Amino acid sequence: MGNKTNSIAIDGPAGAGKSTVAKRVAAELKFACVDSGAIYRTAALYFIEKYGDGAEKAIEDKALLKEELKKFAIDFKVDPALNFTVLLDSVDVSSKIRTQKVSNFVARVASNPEVREKVNERLRSFALKNKVVMDGRDIASCVLPDSRLKVFLTADAKIRARRRYDELVARGEAADLNDILAEVIKRDEMDEKRPVAPLVKTEDALLVDSSNMNAEEVIQHIVKLAKKEFEL
Ligand code: CDP
Repeated sequence: MGNKTNSIAIDGPAGAGKSTVAKRVAAELKFACVDSGAIYRTAALYFIEKYGDGAEKAIEDKALLKEELKKFAIDFKVDPALNFTVLLDSVDVSSKIRTQKVSNFVARVASNPEVREKVNERLRSFALKNKVVMDGRDIASCVLPDSRLKVFLTADAKIRARRRYDELVARGEAADLNDILAEVIKRDEMDEKRPVAPLVKTEDALLVDSSNMNAEEVIQHIVKLAKKEFEL
């Protein structure tokens, strides 16, 4: 236990509710909270804004990608209310990264090892200085493998799609349940099958299946696990 770091890793597939849960768990434990997916979304946004329909081609061009990765800066801020803000070249893009266009492209960007290296450096340097709840796909397996607590949060794909649909509708956005389910399934497959840092439950992670739990139940369950593990 001696070498464990003061971090809580929450990994899982698209729409399992990781961001909401991570934020609330962090608030209860007075930890910082980092949404690593938001950072991949920011990288995806950069390529979409710069290359439009040619974005996919651009990231496949190794030399171009190498140059591009030097050109933009991704940063993030966690304010006292634990709101997580991502910055692309110092501009707050927290809302812009939530479009369907970004959702459809992000897994492609995140499958690239050079992109991952750039993101991981930033994530690890933050975790060195802060007690953190970090959510993503490879936090336990790759980014912070020494996390004191590792949770794999999942739910049935249909339930995850339904939750995402309700979220979009609540925000007043047009949404189609079948399209969302197709996107969720496609993204799961890309995240699980990619050669670099695939989505995987590590042996030492605790499985939490939220199919029949509401957000509050999941939060309290993880807080309880954390209090035990961190002796709080
Ligand atoms: O839509 P959802 O909130 O579930 O996803 P997200 O956490 O915003 O992550 C968006 C995408 O970024 C994922 O589908 C992965 O392709 C990628 N990602 C990753 O590869 N590694 C992470 N640690 C986090 C996200």
